[in-house]
This record gives sequence, structure tokens and C-alpha cells, in this order.
Amino acid sequence: MRPKITIVGAGNVGATTAHWLAERELGDIVLVDIPQTEGMPKGKALDLMQAGPIVGYNTRLIGTTDYEPTANSDIVVITAGVPRKPGMSREDLVNVNANIIRDVISKAVPLSPNAIYIVVTNPLDTMTYLAYKLSGLPRERVIGQAGILDSARMRTFIAMELDVAVENVQAMVLGGHGDEMVPMVRFTTVAGIPISMLLPKEKIDAIVDRTRKGGGEIVSLLKTGSAYYAPGAAVAQMVEAILKDQKLIVPCSVYLQGEYGLHDICFGVPVKLGRKGVEQIIELPLNEEERAMLERSVQLIRNTMAALQPA
Ligand code: APR
Repeated sequence: MRPKITIVGAGNVGATTAHWLAERELGDIVLVDIPQTEGMPKGKALDLMQAGPIVGYNTRLIGTTDYEPTANSDIVVITAGVPRKPGMSREDLVNVNANIIRDVISKAVPLSPNAIYIVVTNPLDTMTYLAYKLSGLPRERVIGQAGILDSARMRTFIAMELDVAVENVQAMVLGGHGDEMVPMVRFTTVAGIPISMLLPKEKIDAIVDRTRKGGGEIVSLLKTGSAYYAPGAAVAQMVEAILKDQKLIVPCSVYLQGEYGLHDICFGVPVKLGRKGVEQIIELPLNEEERAMLERSVQLIRNTMAALQPA
């Protein structure tokens, strides 16, 4: 039997994730949205399926506004939520998106209690925390997508600066998915060469700054929503790593129980992704400066969590 991948929210990120996933034939896909969207998820699913004969994939896609077809999913990706508009921070979305997460978890989890849940809705770390708490699932199976995207942004900017292949660039962005995220310069390499040997400090600082504001840069260009091609590709990489049991090390937001000295928070750290979800959390030895940056990022998430109103 083919794996079943449910994507809740058939908007920009959801549909783009479905697109990247369909091409990889990782499983059949169920696109879910709210009843008010009427035929929209069905239309997108059909459209994506009709690309199959041209591109050469046999992925089956279903669009729906009820959860019945999602039953027994292997993976549930949650992209349901409101994206930001220019001038908004991800944190501004907290209460409207919290209610959406509550709705999605209450409907999806009873039907797919064994699935691995990937959260994309912003503010990411707080929404992952809420999904984890409400779902009652083990922490290995509720994972926030952010670090792959933030690291990909940093890798892109470095490749642009040095005029090298993006595959040569390894970078790791940790912490919360907000403007206080922590690009780990010390662990950034190009073909194994530390970035500090290739670029002067001012250039590296500028790349770090652009990475932190990478999502905002796109919001201000698009004006009507936030990024979706790269976020969708990041989710597809997580789904592939899980379904193929790749043991891929990437940064993801996970519920911490003492790792990095942190408790009761979802935070972006390097993890090993495999068929069980998060199979290991990797603790990097941090210097004082990095620890101080992580602390600022923790504070931003704690403030957002404190703004959460009860259902
Ligand atoms: N259940 C299912 N789907 C929902 C619900 C819900 N309770 N509430 C809203 N949706 C759907 C909307 O109907 C819409 O189709 O979620 C979709 C969101 O799509 P877009 O508005 O295009 O937003 P998108 O760019 O995909 O971003 C979604 O991901 O990156 C984050 O910050 C972003 O939180 C935002 C989320």
C-alpha cells in the first residue's frame, strides 16, 4: 500500500507542498481545507493529478473539506492558517492561528493517531508547541518545519555571494523561526571549508542579517502573502526523510526536555529524521555568544507563548 500524506490547508504552502511531493511519488496525497473553500481543494488535487501524465508521476491526489479521507495517514502536514501581511511579524498571527491549530488537531488526530505531524503554521514554534500539547502524541511525532527553510535561505545567500553551487554550502540555522533565529556561522562550511576562511566578517554579518529577515523580505515583495515555494520544498524534504527512513540530520522545531538546557518549549535544534520521526536530538557545544543568541530567541518564543489566549 502506498503511504498516505495528508496536507491540511490547501492554500499557497499546502498546494505547493503537494506539488513537490507529487513529483517525488512518495505516497498518495489528501488535500484538506475548510468547507467555505468549497471545491478549491478538489480542484487543486485534480489539476495536480492531471500534470502526472506530462511530468511522469502516478501520485493520486484527493481534495476534500472533510477529514474522513485522511484516516490512517502516515504523515499529516499542517499548513492551515493565516499568512502575514507586510508590516506584520509572525508573532502577530498567534491567536487567530492558534484557533485554527485547535480545530485541525481535534479533527485530524483521532483519525490518524499513528501519523507523524509536521507543523508549518506560524508563529511556528508556538504552533508546534500547541499541536504537541493538544495532540497528546509523543514528541518524536510532532515536528515543526522552519530550520530547513532558514538554513536554505542562508545557503542560497552564501552561494550567491561566492558564486558556488548551493550543494557545496552547508549551514545550520537554529532557534525559533523569528527574527531572533540563530544562524550558526561557526558550523557553516563551503565544500568543507569554514565560511570564515572565505568571506570577511562584514559580508558574513550581512548574510546572517538577511537570513534572519528572509521571510520578511519575501512578504514585503509579495505584499499579499508569505513565501511558499521554499517552505513547501522544506516540508517535502522532511516527508521524504521520514518515509524513506533516511536518518537525515536537519534543524527542526521539537519539544525540548532539557536539551540545550531548555524545558517546555518547542525550539529549532538539529535532529535526525527517520521513519519514527525525530529519532535523535543533537546537542552542539555552543560558545557564550551563541548561547546568548539562543537565549534571545527563547525569550521571543516565551513572549509569544504568553500571548496565547485560552480556547
Ligand atoms: N482547517 C483547514 N484549513 C484551514 C483552516 C482550518 N481550520 N483555516 C484556514 N485554513 C486554510 C485556508 O482556507 C487557506 O486555504 O489554510 C489555507 C492557508 O492558505 P494561504 O492563505 O494561502 O496561506 P499560506 O501562504 O499557505 O500559509 C499558511 O503557513 O507559512 C505559514 O505563515 C504561514 O501560517 C501561515 C501558513
